[in-house]
Amino acid sequence: MAERRVTLAVTGASGAQYALRLLECLVQAEVQVLFLISQAAQLVVVTETELQLPPKPQALEQFLTERYQAKPGQIRVYGKQDWMSPVASGSGAPSAMVVCPCSTGTLSAIATGASNNLIERAADVALKERRQLILVPRESPYSTIHLENMLTLSRMGAVILPASPGFYHQPQSIDDLVDFVVARILSQLGIEQTLLKRWGE
Ligand SMILES: Cc1cc2nc3c(=O)[nH]c(=O)nc-3n(C[C@H](O)[C@H](O)[C@H](O)COP(=O)(O)O)c2cc1C
Repeated sequence: MAERRVTLAVTGASGAQYALRLLECLVQAEVQVLFLISQAAQLVVVTETELQLPPKPQALEQFLTERYQAKPGQIRVYGKQDWMSPVASGSGAPSAMVVCPCSTGTLSAIATGASNNLIERAADVALKERRQLILVPRESPYSTIHLENMLTLSRMGAVILPASPGFYHQPQSIDDLVDFVVARILSQLGIEQTLLKRWGE
């Protein structure tokens, strides 16, 4: 099994394609992915893509494993109240967690340590253990509350990586725009990426 493990939490902000592409890239990079998805994110996936994800963790795990041709056990899916899962504790959680996309609701819950579902708890664990936490918020415009929550989390060491693709690579398609953001996330994780040329190359 893959040595590197990452928690990928998908919440109900617009931009489901970022999450799905990131999952694909992590699988290709032979990373084990501990996958969490909120109910709102399930609705966003239906709205924004052609996919209808199975709602139950076990069926979703099988679906994603087949879709991304992952190795058995490479993608693990946990339900929102699976407090016995590895991500719920500092002793079992991976060294990095990405919330992509990150809704302003989940952003707020993480900033205040709410821990009311497994995504919020896993992020709380990442913060308390001083592990890598990458948040990919999307909203427009941002309210003062959103900005203050981002500042709070940034000061705690989280990386705020907004879903705001640049255009200097002259994107030709939506996929190019998605890859811009996903490349940034992979770079933060220290995973080699070929989606986007590095600046100056
Ligand atoms: C199609 C759709 C798009 C949404 N887009 C956003 C968004 O871009 N940013 C955001 O913060 N919330 C957005 N929302 C609202 C969140 O899904 C909602 O606040 C939800 O409670 C978030 O729950 P979660 O954090 O548990 O996923 C959207 C909802 C839907 C259905």
